[in-house]
Amino acid sequence: MRHIIDLCDLTEKEFSDLYKLTTNIIDRPEGYADACRGKVLGSLFYEPSTRTNFSFQTAMLRAGGTVFGFADPKSTSTAKGETLKDTIKMVSGYADVVVMRNPKEGAAKAASLYSNVPVVNAGDGWHAHPTQALLDAFSLRQVWGHDRNAFKGKNLLILGDCAHSRVCRSNVLLLTKLGVNVSLCAPRTLLPAGVDNWPVTVHTDSKKAVRDMDAVMCLRLQLERQQAGLLPDLREYSKRFCLTTAHMELARSGAHIMHPGPILRGLDVSDALADSSQSLILDQVSAGVSVRMAVLY
Ligand code: CP
Repeated sequence: MRHIIDLCDLTEKEFSDLYKLTTNIIDRPEGYADACRGKVLGSLFYEPSTRTNFSFQTAMLRAGGTVFGFADPKSTSTAKGETLKDTIKMVSGYADVVVMRNPKEGAAKAASLYSNVPVVNAGDGWHAHPTQALLDAFSLRQVWGHDRNAFKGKNLLILGDCAHSRVCRSNVLLLTKLGVNVSLCAPRTLLPAGVDNWPVTVHTDSKKAVRDMDAVMCLRLQLERQQAGLLPDLREYSKRFCLTTAHMELARSGAHIMHPGPILRGLDVSDALADSSQSLILDQVSAGVSVRMAVLY
């Protein structure tokens, strides 16, 4: 196993191999019940998480390994002033693999330089969330088909707070590499800096943006990361950017809805759509465990 910090260097072949392994794990879980026997996962969450933290833990336990770690750095010597460097040096002496979420962009890369064991980035600020993109692509492949060209020419819209989203950045990297036409839609203030140089189409009108889409990935409005004075009016934001059934009537027939979670219902996506038959949200959640088992394998 190697460090997984972002998806810049992941090849189409490596994605395909990971996809095959994940599929095998789903089809024959008993064959992987001891895949990580004797291995210890150090799970370091400096930021809140439900899905990523618990699915990595579940993945390691289902593969026969064990887990230690924290979900709140205040319970560790970080609260006494210990640096990330020292924490990683300690933890990599106890664990065989480190999974880390951290609010600072670049923290996962820094951890990989200090660690004696592989580091998996579980999200570093707005920079990257590689295993989320892997599970999102896996979920899409389950509905778009297993053919190696299944992604080519598909249209996917990422809608919402793209500026603060590591999920957006990792998905743009992976999905464009797999041949998907990716569009982003957000208010101007919530588009990423430098987006005009990204390989995407940019919109600020959500009704125009959803036309001809095969999938729409909604993003959470990250209230905790908004710059002072730039938080949009929530009522206005919801009217313009919350995905509704009216939007989906403009998308392609059978288009799917995704959301990495946590969902702000009524702000990112309507309650009805989040729970509709078009929604892949629960498929993404269950893919999370299997994909992360494959990553830890
Ligand atoms: N998708 C995601 O990263 O969710 P959590 O913050 O709950 O881990």
